[in-house]
Amino acid sequence: MSNETLQAVRGMNDILPDEAGLWLWFEDVVREWLESYGYRNIRMPLLEPTALFKRAIGEVTDIVEKEMYSFEDSLNGDHLTLRPEGTASCVRAALQHNLLYNAPQRLYYGGAMFRHERPQKGRYRQFHQFGVEALGFVGPDIDAEMILMCARLWKKLSIRDVTLQLNTLGDAASRQRHREKLIAYFGRHSGDLDADAARRLHSNPLRILDSKNPAMQTLIEGAPRLMDELDDEALKHFAAVQEILRRHEVAFEINTRLVRGLDYYNRTVFEWVTTRLGAQGTLCAGGRFDGLIEQIGGKPAPACGFAMGIERLLALLQEGGMNCPPQELDVYLVHQGELADAMASGVAEQLRDAGLRVLLHCGGGSFKSQMKKADASNAACAVIIGDDEARAGQATLKPLRGGEQVCVALGELPGRINELIK
Ligand code: HAM
Repeated sequence: MSNETLQAVRGMNDILPDEAGLWLWFEDVVREWLESYGYRNIRMPLLEPTALFKRAIGEVTDIVEKEMYSFEDSLNGDHLTLRPEGTASCVRAALQHNLLYNAPQRLYYGGAMFRHERPQKGRYRQFHQFGVEALGFVGPDIDAEMILMCARLWKKLSIRDVTLQLNTLGDAASRQRHREKLIAYFGRHSGDLDADAARRLHSNPLRILDSKNPAMQTLIEGAPRLMDELDDEALKHFAAVQEILRRHEVAFEINTRLVRGLDYYNRTVFEWVTTRLGAQGTLCAGGRFDGLIEQIGGKPAPACGFAMGIERLLALLQEGGMNCPPQELDVYLVHQGELADAMASGVAEQLRDAGLRVLLHCGGGSFKSQMKKADASNAACAVIIGDDEARAGQATLKPLRGGEQVCVALGELPGRINELIK
């Protein structure tokens, strides 16, 4: 058997304790923010039937064509996929459990997503999102609320260098008209299409507009615009979203080339983008998906949502100098001697009963070496018990950030420590 050290899967990161503090803090901020808008948490499985993502995201998208971790369950032959995003699962869960038709739902989820992309800074194969979905809301007010929510979060996090790009994709009929015009236009220029575009010409010509290939950009610039095909209802909806944003002084840019990489969107789509993270600058993205619920098998119901990439947001915060304070500890409990060792865990439990955070030294060693560990532990104080103290029902309380050590009866220890750390 080989004994070489095994490594994590490429593009999948360990989040080590020094960094995990920042994640915990961020997750608390986000949860509080979401709850302040009435969103409720939902948790879906990481694995779903492959058909769900094919149907929801679209067969002719990068995600479904190239990026899904799909496999056959060797025990029963089911076709399964590690979720590449949460919207499809969230809608599936809402339908499966009948959440949808009694009242609209404001839902959020967080967790790992999986896409087999080429890893680089800000782009991983396992990454984490917070996703927000409002199911059953038809008006532009919810689209705008979602954008305002994001603006509030950026403010809360003191994130400034982020811009809002906004577009509308219209509704099914206008998209069909646009699609036909795109096929005709790109068909006339078929000699200038790259392989991806040529393949998508008839299956999903809208995706061609999303191409990053520099050689295709002039052709794309001249392509028919969806804006010119939009019907009055969609235009009115889009104008109303913009009006609410203006009223709240949220700046935005209309980007008619914003088409998003997933097929379920219609009408409003948006992305929050920063220039401070290099190529992977989209922090948060979403839009309306009024057709998805029906596409997954439910009765038609409108919906809107977005998701943010946690790695990217944290990278931006760190780039701005944010550091998370190390995890706090109140007491490092040092003990040596037969009697003291026997008592130590009981004393530690008694302190925890009083609400204190206690690290009980384990593994023996001299007082000196234990004290060294206590000094390095980031605890506010050390509680020291030797056999003499143990016999007298006492402990030595030593502040680790300045101050004299004192001898304290065990019963008074919690109170004295609380005074010390206040
Ligand atoms: P998405 O644009 O595919 O949308 O992803 C949303 C965000 O997830 C991106 O803006 C980015 O911050 C982050 N992200 C995506 N891929 C990666 C990656 N490989 N590595 C690191 N971060 C990544 C969705 O997923 C939709 N479900 C959003 C939505 C919700 N639309 C409606 N509701």
